[in-house]
Order: sequence, then structure tokens, then C-alpha cells
Amino acid sequence: MPVLELKNIIKNYPDGQNVNEVLKEINFHVNQGEFAAIVGPSGAGKSTLLTIMGALLSPTSGSVLLNNQDIGQLSKKQQTDIRLNKIGFIFQNSDLIPYLKISDQLKFIQKISNKNPIDSDKILKELGLGHRLNSYPNALSGGEKQRVAIARAFINQPDLILADEPTASLDSKRGHEVVKIIQETVHQQNKAAVMVTHDERVLDLVDSIWQIEDGRLKRVKA
Ligand SMILES: Nc1ncnc2c1ncn2[C@@H]1O[C@H](COP(=O)(O)OP(=O)(O)O)[C@@H](O)[C@H]1O
Ligand SMILES: [Mg+2]
Repeated sequence: MPVLELKNIIKNYPDGQNVNEVLKEINFHVNQGEFAAIVGPSGAGKSTLLTIMGALLSPTSGSVLLNNQDIGQLSKKQQTDIRLNKIGFIFQNSDLIPYLKISDQLKFIQKISNKNPIDSDKILKELGLGHRLNSYPNALSGGEKQRVAIARAFINQPDLILADEPTASLDSKRGHEVVKIIQETVHQQNKAAVMVTHDERVLDLVDSIWQIEDGRLKRVKA
């Protein structure tokens, strides 16, 4: 059974007198233990698609099923709850909270959710961030910030990880290291993950590849 499934997703934006058809009849799925990549040029609709997957944006039509549940049918409160407890987000620029120490970036998320807390400092240490626990984000390199963002995305033991161009601000070596951490965590913890990217250099790490072009999505690698 897929963790996430999209059925006939259409997204239109108004564009003056016309409509901009950003996503056209998109079908997609990702299974437990699978790391999927969606590739496509800038402006192809990757972020829009990922935002819909994460229940941060409603499609014009079509359905988004998380663990077989149609999240479009849920109340705003229930959607917020799902975003907090079932989905982990990783963004291009980390989006760490500037006034929280690294250690507290994870504890803060644990505090507002209702999952059994796991030892977040231990996880940061395992990711080589032990010496950064009491630092603020602005003291960290881009690669370190992305490792914190990954740890934060996994801290609530979500079923689904969504990553939007996680390597965009990194050089190719750091980018590969960061995506490798996502891959290993997905496989070890049997999660599902979707990464949108235009960075072809990290595609050796994923299990399936989909391509989006002119609003249409097709699978290009099993
Ligand atoms: N909030 C919005 N309102 C209107 N148009 C938007 C909005 N967000 C994205 N778009 C348009 O949707 C298209 C796809 O954007 P996006 O999903 O950001 O692509 P990508 O992430 O692949 O670069 C672009 O033409 C963009 O201008
Ligand atoms: Mg984008």
C-alpha cells in the first residue's frame, strides 16, 4: 500500500484573463521504504506539487491520499495535525528558527506535538552536530544547517518526508552527503520520502525518478 497517492491532481492559478494550468492530471505514488525523486526544470510546478502533497495547498481538483485517507476531506485542524505528526518537511534554505539553539530546534517540534519524545541531542550527535548543540543557526555552514533540518523533519517519526530542493544551497559534495542522510534514514526507518530537485547529481541515491514537464508527470525510473 502506498504511503502517499495522488489521483488526477489539477492545479490552476489565475493569470490575468487566463488560467495558468500548472499541474495537469497528475498521478503519483510512493511506498513505505521508498525514496522518490521528482525532477524538472525551474517553473515546472515541482514546489506546487510538493506543497499539495504536504496539505499546505489545496489542488483545484483531484485527491491526495495519505495512508489511504483523503486529506482534502479533513478539517483545517485535522490537516494541521497531520502536518505535524505524519509529515516531515525539508526546505531548500533549511528554515531554521534564528533565535533557537540547534538543540532546541528539535525539542521545540517535540514539545508542540504529542509523540513520545526521542533523544533529539543523540540524533544530532549521530549526524556529527554534537559540537553545535548550543550554537545558533547563523553560526552553521549550509551543510550543517541542512543536517539539522533533516533531523528536525524526522524527529516526530513521520510516515512521509517531503524535501524541496534540499541541495540547492550546497556544493555537489555536501549536497550528496545531505541526500545520502535522507536516503539512509528512509531505508533504516522504513519511511517514504519525496524529493523535488533539479540536481541530477544526487539521483544515484533514490529508488524511483519521476519527471515533470509542462505540468505533466511521468515515471522515468522504476
Ligand atoms: N501562488 C502562486 N500564484 C500564482 N502562480 C503561482 C503561484 N505559485 C506558483 N505559481 C506559478 O506556478 C508555476 C510553477 O511554479 P513552482 O511550483 O514554483 O515551480 P518549480 O518549483 O518547479 O520551480 C510557475 O509558473 C509559477 O509562476
Ligand atoms: Mg521550486
